[in-house]
Amino acid sequence: MGTYIVQGGRRIEGEFQVRGGKNSALPILSACILAEDEVVLENLPLIRDVLQTLDILRELGCKVTLTGRTAVIDSSFLQKTEVGNETVRKMRSSILFLGALLGRAKQVKISYPGGCAIGSRPIDLHLASFQRMGVEIQEENCVLDCKREKIAGAVIQLPFPSVGATENVMLLAAKAEGVTMIRNAAREPEIVALARFLRAMGAEIYGEGTGSILVEGVSRLHGAYYSIPADRIEGGTFLCAAAMTGGELFLRGLEREQMGAVLEVLRTCGCRFLWEESDLLWMKPPKELKSDFTIVTGPFPAFPTDMQPLMMSLLTLAKGNCMISETVFEARFSQGAELCRMGADIRISGENAYICGVKSLHGAEVFAHDLRCGAALLCAALAAEGESIIHGSEYVERGYEKIEDAFSFLGGNIRLREERKPYVQKEIEKNE
Ligand code: EPZ
Repeated sequence: MGTYIVQGGRRIEGEFQVRGGKNSALPILSACILAEDEVVLENLPLIRDVLQTLDILRELGCKVTLTGRTAVIDSSFLQKTEVGNETVRKMRSSILFLGALLGRAKQVKISYPGGCAIGSRPIDLHLASFQRMGVEIQEENCVLDCKREKIAGAVIQLPFPSVGATENVMLLAAKAEGVTMIRNAAREPEIVALARFLRAMGAEIYGEGTGSILVEGVSRLHGAYYSIPADRIEGGTFLCAAAMTGGELFLRGLEREQMGAVLEVLRTCGCRFLWEESDLLWMKPPKELKSDFTIVTGPFPAFPTDMQPLMMSLLTLAKGNCMISETVFEARFSQGAELCRMGADIRISGENAYICGVKSLHGAEVFAHDLRCGAALLCAALAAEGESIIHGSEYVERGYEKIEDAFSFLGGNIRLREERKPYVQKEIEKNE
């Protein structure tokens, strides 16, 4: 539990190495279970969700060592095939363990993941796909009891290109008997990263990055060495912070083909970009950001939903009117009300948000309701006049490694005040 204290008005500028991507790392960590000997993963982001996932691997009986950003994971001693409520409640992406564990065991039990602040987050597409591949699923007291004799390759037609469902099917199909074809598969860069990792472990997988992914199951997957690609959403976050504060920024590590939709919107706001080297992106924002356009979020390569809160934050300071339509999650505008407390002019109506740019924002005490909401409020606070207090650092720490140090390194005035739990505080006062 912690609170960010931000003194706004300083430029976010300079050069920054983007860290490894959360949404690439999490499915890849689950996939390690499929390897019957050692895996080495480099460039892991040291964020709460990754550290928690490493703990889950340890709970399942895997040998896990973490040195810096490099993890060595040996799943040959896998013992447990149950993922409990406490774990899944803390981190819903642990549903990705289901596909990987079923690749190693005939029976797996996992608690039903709940929704979160941005929506109900159902897993019906995951489960329907698994049943088509021969998995029997019984639900009792919110626990999914999954059994399979063998895993049968199948044609999986996804009604929506769900990232998680695509990933879970890839994990299950990697060791199926026969061929699995995923139609209307998600095309996100994180899918491509997972496919490359599975291939490094010996999987026969083709078509990642397109809407049709073919997986020819193999009987065994071996260890591999892999480096987690840079986080396109962290990169977009820093671009927004720099653009809102008038800073010139160099970002290292991003892949050009992943940034198209985000850079297109920022260019329309008046930002200039240059790819100085294959992975060095330069950005210079205009004196005054401008808007007067509509953004519609959608599956890759459309504008990413994870960047929607950050772009809303930026548009509060862009001259003009803008509409954002959030088509992926049903409740992802929680940052709107908090930004209004800082002087923004935002009206929410269903899946649409209408933003009318204002001259400036002022500091305020605000609350992060989820990961990207918290990041959006940090960007606004860095650009606002005066001091802001942002509660809920635990959400931001799920997806950004020490973001307060990163923004300080780039010129921001920001610190994190750790809030000790009351009982801890009492203990400390007692012993002082
Ligand atoms: C992944 O979530 C990411 N999380 C999300 O990032 C990201 O916003 C999302 O993909 C979309 O890009 C991780 O990779 C850990 P979906 P996921 O399945 O897999 C509905 C962040 O901030 N749906 O593509 O859960 C679902 O309700 C996080 O880093 C079903 O209806 O996304 C949602 O409306 C937030 N049934 C839509 O599809 C299902 O079985 C997109 O979900 C599955 C999904």
